Order: sequence, then structure tokens, then C-alpha cells
Amino acid sequence: MSDLDPFKIFLELQLALPRNGPGSSRATEAAFALVPPLDENAQILDIGCGQGASTFDLLRLTNARVTAIDLYEPFLEKMNARATREGIGDDRLVIKRADMEALPFHEGEFDLIWSEGAIYLIGFAKGLKLWRRFLKPEGHVAVTECTWLTGNPSDEARTFWDAAYPAMGTIASNAAAAERAGYEVIGTQVLPPEDWRTGYYVPMRRKIADMRETYGDEVEPVLAEAEAEIALFENNPGQYSYVFYVMRLKG
Ligand SMILES: C[S@@+](CC[C@H](N)C(=O)[O-])C[C@H]1O[C@@H](n2cnc3c(N)ncnc32)[C@H](O)[C@@H]1O
Repeated sequence: MSDLDPFKIFLELQLALPRNGPGSSRATEAAFALVPPLDENAQILDIGCGQGASTFDLLRLTNARVTAIDLYEPFLEKMNARATREGIGDDRLVIKRADMEALPFHEGEFDLIWSEGAIYLIGFAKGLKLWRRFLKPEGHVAVTECTWLTGNPSDEARTFWDAAYPAMGTIASNAAAAERAGYEVIGTQVLPPEDWRTGYYVPMRRKIADMRETYGDEVEPVLAEAEAEIALFENNPGQYSYVFYVMRLKG
């Protein structure tokens, strides 16, 4: 494999960012505020944690033990290094390589499942159905999912998302899917544009410029694709965004 293999380039770009998808500590905190207070010994599972943007927020917001899973070792290594730096022990944080489609946990193990910018990888409804068995009977789930905010998107936005994520729903269709999967939706929150920019697209633009200088033309396809995604977002304000869906298991 050449050093400039597209996946390695994508990974280098992502590793340089403070988070690996749109979001913010403010949004995580606001969604968490919708969840009823957790027990003393609560267990939280963060699925598709990336470098742990939401994981470290959840550790700050709770006394719970957080288990964070992702498929890619380089992200988990960065999380381990941060946990060591911040003196967070395994009584509070367990970092594990695991596949969200085949989670290595017991039934009813978690009070709260969290997942930012990752459930789309297996599909919103499928993820919710697969993960519910790992929740305690009174358990809650909070996920972010890229969602249409308009029924009348531009041709540019429609063409992009029809190719990238044809199953992308609206808030109403996702809420209905969650109900069918056995959850009651207790709140939704649309991420504002600054949650796409501050921790994600702004540092991504800077890293793209660095990488273009370092590597030259060979990495252009990967960088151009990332730039096209940013341009799409800036050209189509208010048409789509990530939305937090906070849910509880139906009895
Ligand atoms: C868009 S990123 C979001 C990361 C993080 N939650 C954040 O908001 O910064 C999606 C994450 O899902 C992870 N991922 C991809 N496929 C996965 C799978 N099958 N199981 C677990 N994680 C997966 C990726 O490695 C990546 O870290």
C-alpha cells in the first residue's frame, strides 16, 4: 500500500481535527440535559466515539462509567493518550475496539447509549433496533443523525445526498422510525451551523491547505471531496443538519 493511499490520507485529515463530525460540547450538554438524572453507578456506551469528543464531555457531565467503542485504532490510541494525560482511570472510562454492528456486550448492560455522527453507518432505524437490547428497561439513547430540514432541497443538495446517504430522513420520518423501533422520542435539537464549522469544517479547511502543500497533487481527490462537502454545506444553508434525537425505551 502506498503511503498516499486515499484511506490513509482521509485518516490523517480526520486525526488532525478536534472532532470527527459536526457537533459541540454545548450541543452534547443540551441533549444530555433532556435525559433524566442517572443512577450513582450508571453505565454509558458511546458508539462510534472517534477521538472521543462526546466521550470526554459525558465524563465531565456525569459520574458514570463510560465505555467508548470505535473501529479505528488510531482514534482509540489518541483517546487513550488523552485519558492518561487527564488522569482518567478505567473506573471511569473503558476504551474498546468494537464494531457497532456486533457489539460485544450483555443484554441490559447500559443506562444510556450515546452516538454522535455514527449511526448513519448502519442506518438510523437499524442501529436503534440493534442497540436496544443493550439498554436497561428504563434506558435512554441519544444520537445525532444528518437530517433534511426542508422538503424542497436544491438540486445540488438533493444530488449530493441521494448519492452519499439516500436514506437520509426528516425529523418527522426519523421520529416515526424511532417509535417503530420501540422508543419514545423525548426531544430533538437541530445543530446550528457553527457546530459544523467551529470544531469540524474550519480546522478541516486548515488541514486541507497544509496537506496540499505537503503532498501536492497526489492527494487531491481526497482533499477535493472534503472541500466539496464543505462547499455544499455553505451553499445550502438551512436545508440539512445533524439533529440530536433523545429517546427512551418504551415500556
Ligand atoms: C463521523 S465519525 C464520528 C466520530 C465521533 N462520534 C465524533 O463525533 O467526533 C464516525 C465514527 O464511526 C467510526 N466507525 C465506522 N464504522 C464503524 C463500525 N462499524 N463500528 C464502530 N465504529 C465505526 C469511525 O471510525 C468514526 O470514528
